[in-house]
Amino acid sequence: MTDYLWGESPLTGIVFIDDEHEEIFSTLAAWLKGPSANNPQPTSNEIQRLVDVWIKHFRQEEALLVRHNYPGLDKQKADHLSMERKIRQFFSKAAGEPISAADIDALLKMFIAHTLGPDMAYSEFQKGEGVR
Ligand SMILES: [Fe+2]
Ligand SMILES: [Fe+2]
Repeated sequence: MTDYLWGESPLTGIVFIDDEHEEIFSTLAAWLKGPSANNPQPTSNEIQRLVDVWIKHFRQEEALLVRHNYPGLDKQKADHLSMERKIRQFFSKAAGEPISAADIDALLKMFIAHTLGPDMAYSEFQKGEGVR
């Protein structure tokens, strides 16, 4: 499994967005580490909380981008919808059995790719608009 670090670089500069990114990342990274790398077992409440935080994060980003007429909004929404399906799919498995380290690893990779790609793209636009 990959070891991930969340450094200074992937910051949008929008405080509440960065806080949510940090929470999603650190939750998944902690699950990936243990109790054992091959058998992470977050509780159903923890899983539900992450799903709620993550989906709410998508809606907040979209609302922010609508307010600022962001030209890449359709791409953000399409990515969010596709990610939302995968998040719900992965975590619906957790109702019946422990989710695997491979599943968590895939979610982390998906999260990182989106945050470093489309989210950093809108953050450059937002900085030009003076959003903090
Ligand atoms: Fe995001
Ligand atoms: Fe996003």
